[in-house]
Amino acid sequence: MLQSIENVDVAQRRLTILGSTGSIGQSTIDIVRHHREQFPVEALVANTNIKQLAADARALGASIAVTADESRYDELKDLLAGSGVEAAAGQQAVIDAASRPADMVMAAIVGAGGLQPTLAAASQGTTIALANKECLVCAGELFIRDANGAGASVIPVDSEHSAIFQCFEARNAAQVHKVTLTASGGPFRARSLSQLQEVSPEEALKHPNWSMGPKVTIDSATLMNKGLELIEAYHLFPVSVDQLGAVIHPQSIVHSMVSYVDGSVLAQLGVPDMRTPIACAMAWPGRVHSPVESLDLVAVGQLTFEAIDSKRFPAIDMCLGALRCGGSATAILNAANEIAVAEFLSQSIGFVAITTLVECALSRAERDNMLGALGSLEDVWEADAYGRRIAVELAREMRP
Ligand SMILES: NC(=O)c1ccc[n+]([C@@H]2O[C@H](COP(=O)([O-])OP(=O)(O)OC[C@H]3O[C@@H](n4cnc5c(N)ncnc54)[C@H](OP(=O)(O)O)[C@@H]3O)[C@@H](O)[C@H]2O)c1
Repeated sequence: MLQSIENVDVAQRRLTILGSTGSIGQSTIDIVRHHREQFPVEALVANTNIKQLAADARALGASIAVTADESRYDELKDLLAGSGVEAAAGQQAVIDAASRPADMVMAAIVGAGGLQPTLAAASQGTTIALANKECLVCAGELFIRDANGAGASVIPVDSEHSAIFQCFEARNAAQVHKVTLTASGGPFRARSLSQLQEVSPEEALKHPNWSMGPKVTIDSATLMNKGLELIEAYHLFPVSVDQLGAVIHPQSIVHSMVSYVDGSVLAQLGVPDMRTPIACAMAWPGRVHSPVESLDLVAVGQLTFEAIDSKRFPAIDMCLGALRCGGSATAILNAANEIAVAEFLSQSIGFVAITTLVECALSRAERDNMLGALGSLEDVWEADAYGRRIAVELAREMRP
């Protein structure tokens, strides 16, 4: 559960961005560009997009730019020549960059690769603006325990958790009845199971409302993204698994809701643009202007809600099941899903096979007695490696 962030200074925040070249990273940089004085940049960290990394580091006057790919060091160094921006490369350099003194780290590396650098930043007591889901999905208890132990505040960036964060009255936590996450339903919410079998990567990569990186876009189409978000919400807020739910809301205007025992439901609304929750996290508990258009409810006209069909979209039940199981289950689920999404994108398996593969990986883990407690980061890596290995085997078996 999050600890209080009342004492966070909002006057000026020195910012490090992990995953600066990605969808969240670029939206964060857009907010920085509008508030250069308020958000000076310490470090930018990315992986393969060296040109963008160097260009942003130069434009924002970052102290250091880091690529996780050691073989790209010379290229980065050449692109930064004469700029005064230091260059570094490699996994350890990423962790070192995350550990540099800063007021806030935007944790927006995609996948389990984001866990170690984000933990490194949290263990310095740095405020974390958390976009990376895997920190909580793979290692929720460890992550929150270490962050709280180091005095690091964690501010959610995901739009749903940002909404809950803004609606959750900590003083009335015991009077919360239910937390409901909204899901757009992705591009295929009206398709039959047999139509879902035919979905291609190109179709699945076109999200109707949100512009996001490829992994999270596919997760949105399978609704795995919503399942992973329910796991995140469990770790971020003092609620039980039974108090968590999700509902389809195709317009993506209501970002999530908190229901209280007196019947009040607090919801947060906004146009679907990640720059709003990003700006919210960056300035919290203050507010800064963002370039997002303001919400015109009359123009939107209708806000509709539907129940989720778990037969066609089994990912949410699977995630809640893994959450109830506890320990390594959610880390194995996440690892298997990362492999399954990559296999789908490379057209090795079909769309429906993504969730089937994850379900089979969890059954295999139960059979192999791999669903144990996670006491350390080593346990997390072991569960992650196991999930990946099993998923690769299953994908091979499932190829047409
Ligand atoms: N996009 C959204 O709207 C959204 C919403 C909520 C939550 N999230 C979460 O936020 C995270 C980022 O999502 P995204 O959509 O921004 O992903 P993305 O567009 O794919 O960007 C990923 C970023 O991570 C960097 N990266 C990848 N592997 C790395 C490594 N090993 N070390 C250092 N950097 C690495 C990439 O660098 P290169 O590009 O240089 O290779 C890129 O900057 C994910 O966990 C996602 O679930 C995203």
